[in-house]
Amino acid sequence: MHKIRMGQPGTFMPSLVDLGFNTADAKDILAWAQMGLTPGAGCCEIAENNCEDGQTIEQCDALGGELHEEICAEVPECNVAPPGEGCCVIAENDCVDDTTEVECGDLGGIQFDEGLMCSGVAECNVAPAPDGEALYIDNCQFCHGPNGDGSVSPAFPPVAGKSAGEIETAIMTVPAMMGLDFLSAAEVDAIALFLAP
Ligand code: HEC
Repeated sequence: MHKIRMGQPGTFMPSLVDLGFNTADAKDILAWAQMGLTPGAGCCEIAENNCEDGQTIEQCDALGGELHEEICAEVPECNVAPPGEGCCVIAENDCVDDTTEVECGDLGGIQFDEGLMCSGVAECNVAPAPDGEALYIDNCQFCHGPNGDGSVSPAFPPVAGKSAGEIETAIMTVPAMMGLDFLSAAEVDAIALFLAP
């Protein structure tokens, strides 16, 4: 593998890296070369996650396996998440892949279904709560002052401690605040939480 990537010094064999190929390309070439060297060789699937590359049909038969033409990396049965391992949910958006139930228990988390990766577990992919302070600074501070203190101008009342309902009403009724109706209910809630005393 290293030789394919780096070439063979002192020979005509070029370095794939110099030619702009990556490691995955080198692996493909290696797999192709190995199959070419032993005609009919492929991946011998002996059992789930127990596979051997570069086997002929006779060799695979002797191992009691089933021969695939592809390399093992491309045979799904050879790449099953190990039994008992999966995604550990420690908290919302705080998850770890490939843990066993015991490892997950040590982390204080809850182990999910076998083989399920965190990308497939809803609790691990919750949209983060809107940042009320950032939303206030971006959309409101210009008129209502830092922390809603009303220090900018008497034309703009202080809004510290105002509720989400009062903010919604102001957005709907105050002409100067028209154009803020793009804020979602969750964002208004977050702003109210930031303005809360
Ligand atoms: C362009 C200036 C401007 C911006 C930006 C603005 N407001 Fe206002 N807001 C006003 C004005 C002017 C009033 C007062 C209207 C009145 O008294 O009739 C007001 C009134 C309010 C009120 C009602 C206050 C009360 O005492 O009844 C709340 C609550 C409020 N704004 C919250 C916000 C929040 C939260 C944002 C950001 C999402 C925001 N405003 C952005 C100008 C603005």
